[in-house]
Amino acid sequence: MIDQPNLQEAPAARYSLSAIFFHWVSFALIVFVGALGLAFGLIPRPNRLFWINIHAVVGLAVLALAVIRIGWRFRNPPPDYPEGTPALTRKLSAPVHWLLYALMVILPLVGIVAFVWHARVFDFGLFKIDFGVASNKPVYEAAEEIHEFLAFSLFGLVGLHALAALWHHFMRKDGTLARMSPWARS
Ligand code: HEM
Ligand code: HEM
Repeated sequence: MIDQPNLQEAPAARYSLSAIFFHWVSFALIVFVGALGLAFGLIPRPNRLFWINIHAVVGLAVLALAVIRIGWRFRNPPPDYPEGTPALTRKLSAPVHWLLYALMVILPLVGIVAFVWHARVFDFGLFKIDFGVASNKPVYEAAEEIHEFLAFSLFGLVGLHALAALWHHFMRKDGTLARMSPWARS
């Protein structure tokens, strides 16, 4: 099972620097892409296409990072839970984390469908990628709906996840945040 601690070595008390790097870089990119997505309605029409492209290109970085991170994660199990972690936390944390990973992949993939089937072209500055797909309203509208639903599911789950981490850290005082902090020492 991938979520078991590595029993051959004494389990580290905190996540490795690579895990911490993946976590907080993904977090920063998702906050940027998500906030931009929510702001589309406020952006004047002539500028909107520019920002939808920025959203899509940075969203592709979220996808690439998530794929690399998941591959890395299979070979690098997380540290064991702190002593005295409640049974409910032990049961819930792995499925919630895997659901977060799944959303970090599926949400951008559906975004790609919404983007490409709207006949949009990825503009990376130095080069462009045009899949040449004709605009198909039923497809892109459905994909936009699903993308929106998945984005709000991700935001909701991240909210619960962050609240759980804060509750553990400040109420149970089990040092949960320190496990994922680049600065804290175990
Ligand atoms: C876009 C937002 C976020 C995403 C997608 C996300 C995702 C994840 C994932 C997938 C893990 C599991 C790592 C693993 O074991 O493989 C994790 C762990 C963790 N996250 Fe987040 N996270 C986000 C935001 C936050 C925020 C805002 C906080 C703090 C308030 C936070 C605190 C933590 C902590 C402390 C852990 C380690 C939990 C443990 O010790 O078992 N995360 N996060
Ligand atoms: C973690 C990554 C992503 C997040 C959090 C995210 C979030 C969002 C949000 C919140 C919206 C607005 C939904 C609404 O209220 O209607 C949106 C719209 C959209 N997103 Fe994303 N997105 C991500 C990745 C992507 C990617 C990779 C693409 C394409 C390659 C993409 C393409 C789109 C498109 C085409 C729209 C609709 C724009 C329009 O109004 O025409 N998204 N996204």
